This record gives sequence, structure tokens and C-alpha cells, in this order.
Amino acid sequence: MNLFITGGAGFIGCNSADYFLKQGHTVTIFDNLSRPGATNNLNWLQLRHDDPEKLQFVEGDVRDYDALSRAIDGSEAVLHLAGQVAVTTSVIKPRNDFEVNALGTFNVLEAVRNYCPNAPLINASTNKVYGGMTQIEIVDKGDQYAYADYPFGVPETAPLDFHSPYGCSKGAADQYTIDYARIYGLNTLTFRQSCIYGQRQFGVEDQGWVAHFVIAAVKNRPITIFGDGKQVRDVLHINDLVRAYDLGFQKADQLTGEAFNIGGGADNTLAIWTEFGTLLEELCGHEIEVHKGDWRPGDQRVFVSDIRKAQNMLGWQPTIAPKEGITKLYEWVSNNPHLFD
Ligand SMILES: NC(=O)c1ccc[n+]([C@@H]2O[C@H](COP(=O)([O-])OP(=O)(O)OC[C@H]3O[C@@H](n4cnc5c(N)ncnc54)[C@H](O)[C@@H]3O)[C@@H](O)[C@H]2O)c1
Repeated sequence: MNLFITGGAGFIGCNSADYFLKQGHTVTIFDNLSRPGATNNLNWLQLRHDDPEKLQFVEGDVRDYDALSRAIDGSEAVLHLAGQVAVTTSVIKPRNDFEVNALGTFNVLEAVRNYCPNAPLINASTNKVYGGMTQIEIVDKGDQYAYADYPFGVPETAPLDFHSPYGCSKGAADQYTIDYARIYGLNTLTFRQSCIYGQRQFGVEDQGWVAHFVIAAVKNRPITIFGDGKQVRDVLHINDLVRAYDLGFQKADQLTGEAFNIGGGADNTLAIWTEFGTLLEELCGHEIEVHKGDWRPGDQRVFVSDIRKAQNMLGWQPTIAPKEGITKLYEWVSNNPHLFD
């Protein structure tokens, strides 16, 4: 198939492009290269797939509907990843966040409707659409928090509750994606992704925290932990996510208009410092300097997504446990330290 990837030079985008190119598909990347690391990811991809017939790059912005329409025309599948990705940045620049995430996704949907209406579209949404989840009881298990109920995590039927400009813009994009299947009959899916980590992730403090911690450990830099470090998240390795996209495209016509939680689920969780810190110190062989910061507004004690719907309907499940995946990421950063100077 002829796959169009917005944000294809980003962390998830370049890994997805690499995977689908290896499967024999052709890929067009549409990216404005605004994210630090994006140019490096693109160069890496072009070196690995040195065939302009197979891999094309269009420098463009999803806010520019005309440029997007020209580039998307004739595509056979669309993976929409371009986005403003940090909650903190969304608070500082809410209009920019709205324009990139909400208007940008609307433009992608309109471009698909007008120029390639049969193409399945997967939208990269976020578990942030479920908001603060303050109604859910949390228990303190000593070295980490846990849900009192919800042994499988939070399902897609949980109420949507958008917090922060990022939550609102991604939430709007998520709902527009579903509605374009309902109203216009487009073949769309929305994947509510948990924390994704892996090779080629240029993580920073406010986005991509797993990679950010690994980079700090390799480069012997201090890490700031906000709160007590007992917060728990489900984490998913990039290779498992990309397989979910593949299955999503294969099954899109039976699943059109569906939302799926795509994360590590209850079996792949990490307490952000009490567990992750120990693993990192084991990997780097020395103690890591830790600074303590206050809880940040909206920081959840626990977020774990219930992924049983994706297991049942997509036939997908994670295969890479956090320890294995983080060890791989650690090796990649250790072998490429110059990328993080
Ligand atoms: N990484 C995660 O843990 C995670 C979790 C949930 C959801 N997501 C979503 O997945 C998507 C991809 O995330 P990522 O981690 O690969 O982020 P990333 O920042 O590495 O990639 C985003 C890409 O989009 C590009 N981009 C940004 N604004 C653009 C614009 N206006 N027009 C065109 N391109 C633009 C950037 O240059 C970058 O290459 C995002 O939509 C993000 O919200 C990611």
C-alpha cells in the first residue's frame, strides 16, 4: 500500500515508516521537522531506505490544508501522528496547541474525505482523554500506588474528561476522528496511546519521560522526580505499537469508528522511580543523582489502560516487557551518545 504518515520524522513516525517500508509498502512522510531530533530521524530513515520511489518526504505543516491535500492525494492508508506533544507547552501556548492538534487533525480528516476517502486512517490519540480520574480509588502499596478496583486498568467506556489545552485539543481530534466514520463513512480508528518508549525517541522532561530518564542515566545527568516516584504508568515499547498499527490497517474496514486503548496494560507497568530508578541504576552501574520536585498539577498517582478491547478485536497484545524494552533503549542511547550532547 501507499502509506501517508503525518509526523513521520518523529519518534513513532520514523519507527512506523521503517516497519512499513520493510514490509514492502511505499511511504510518504509529511512533517514540518519542528521537533528536535526529527531531522536526524529522517536522515536515518533515508539512509536505510535509499529509494525515492519507496520513501518520499514532503516538508509541510498540517495547519496548511492546501499543502496537505496536495501531498495526501491518492494515498491508500493514512497514519496521523503529527502533533504538539507536550502538556506543559500546551499551557504556555494554547493557541498553537489547538491549531496543530485540533485544526491539524481536522485538516487531515478533510483531506482524506476529499482526496482519498477509501484510505483507512489511524489517529494517534492519548490516554489523557480520560482526564484526572479523581473518582477512582487509589491504594498505597508501599513502594507504588495501585487502583483499588480496576485490576485490568481503565477501559474505553470510562468517561471522557479533557484536562489541559493538550487534553482538549487531542480529545477534540479523537472525537472528530470517530465522528468522521459516523457522519461521512470514512474508515477511521483512534488509538488512545499510553506512554510509548523506544529507540529514536528524543525524550525531554515534559515529553517522553522514559527516554529522558534513560538519556540522563547514560549521560550521567541528574533527574528530577516530581512527587514521590511511586506513581505507576503502563508503558509500551514502540515495536509493539507499530504492530498494532499494522493490525489496525488490516482490520480497519471491520472496526471503523472504534477507539482502542493501546498501551502496556496491567501486565506492563512501571513505578516511575521506585521501580524504574532501580532498573536504571542496575543498567548504568552507578547511583543516579535525583532532585525532588513538588507534584505537578494533574499528576495522576496511577494510570494503567485496559487493553482487552484491542486484544479481542484487533488480535493484538504487547510482547516486550518493560525490563527488556528499557534495556534495548538503554543500549541504543549508549551506542549513540553524541545524539544527546
Ligand atoms: N510518545 C508517546 O508516548 C505518545 C503517547 C500518546 C500519544 N502520542 C501521540 O503520538 C503522536 C506522535 O508522537 P511522538 O512521540 O512520535 O512525537 P514526536 O514529537 O517525536 O513526533 C511528532 C512529529 O510531528 C512533527 N510535527 C509537529 N508539528 C507539526 C505540524 N504542525 N505539521 C507537521 N508535522 C508536525 C514533528 O516535527 C515530529 O516529527 C503525537 O500525536 C502524540 O500526541 C504519543
